[in-house]
Amino acid sequence: MARKHRGIAADGGSDIVAQVVAQGDRLGSRMALVRHKIAVMSGKGGVGKSSITANLAAVLASQGYQVGILDADINGPAIAKMLGVRAQNLSLSENAILPALGPRSIKVMSMDLLLPGDKTPVIWEAPTQQNSFVWRGTIEASALREFLADTAWGELDFLLVDLPPGTYTFPTLEQLVPDLVGIIVTIPSEVSHLVVKRFISLAQELGTLLAGLVENMAGYTCPHCGKVGELFSAAGDGERMVAEMGISYLGSIPFDARLSASADWGIPFALEHGGSPAGQALAHVAAKVKEFVGESRR
Ligand SMILES: Nc1ncnc2c1ncn2[C@@H]1O[C@H](COP(=O)(O)OP(=O)(O)O)[C@@H](O)[C@H]1O
Ligand SMILES: [Mg+2]
Repeated sequence: MARKHRGIAADGGSDIVAQVVAQGDRLGSRMALVRHKIAVMSGKGGVGKSSITANLAAVLASQGYQVGILDADINGPAIAKMLGVRAQNLSLSENAILPALGPRSIKVMSMDLLLPGDKTPVIWEAPTQQNSFVWRGTIEASALREFLADTAWGELDFLLVDLPPGTYTFPTLEQLVPDLVGIIVTIPSEVSHLVVKRFISLAQELGTLLAGLVENMAGYTCPHCGKVGELFSAAGDGERMVAEMGISYLGSIPFDARLSASADWGIPFALEHGGSPAGQALAHVAAKVKEFVGESRR
């Protein structure tokens, strides 16, 4: 029976509170079927969160795990492109949206799959200009809740959540999925470290379990002469940072132009170049994350 609340219509379908309660129940029962929920996050943009999400998913799925990815970057979705599923149409089944299926049957849900065209921006229309900020936050939070609660994720070993830059989305996600484990991504630059350290503090204040830090774009091997050079000035500082912040070091991933090209082609790099230094580094990070969550089946 629909719950009644004063001031809000309680006539079945139009009872908003009852709908939210029902969605909360669906969220709970769907998430109960997901063994490990892992958020890939940073605070900083352009450091490789989406690339690492896509490739960790590929590594885990190729080990036989059931893997899903939720693209929580509602305004700048990249995951569908990186997994090559942009052309797929979403369909409905038993009141849930069937996710797109990527390589190794990775289930993908992203705002990108709901937008009609390549150049269509996500526009959150506010009732008035004045309250547009609050409105946008509220609508984004409900989009995230819907993606979690109303996608037919099924039974998953891992649900990886690719976070946008900034600190805005994470507290919402943490509330929706309290048993979330975080992976923090940085690049070896002081500018990135400054932003990322604040983000780690936020996650720690919220009590999120952090598997550790990944340093991305750490070093570059010249394809012509084979020499290894540093791309950023704070090379090697990641280890110092983890000590300062009291979290673990999950490893470093070198810059590899093929990693970027693979993302553009929609084929995860880790599936094609698993034996390369960057491929091995991604597998190492996956192993450390599995160790952290107590996953020893494969
Ligand atoms: N290790 C790497 N080597 C080469 N290119 C990379 C690497 N990591 C990320 N990139 C590229 O850098 C860009 C930003 O990465 P992306 O994963 O979108 O970052 P974020 O999600 O943090 O904004 C993308 O074009 C991606 O292909
Ligand atoms: Mg991204």
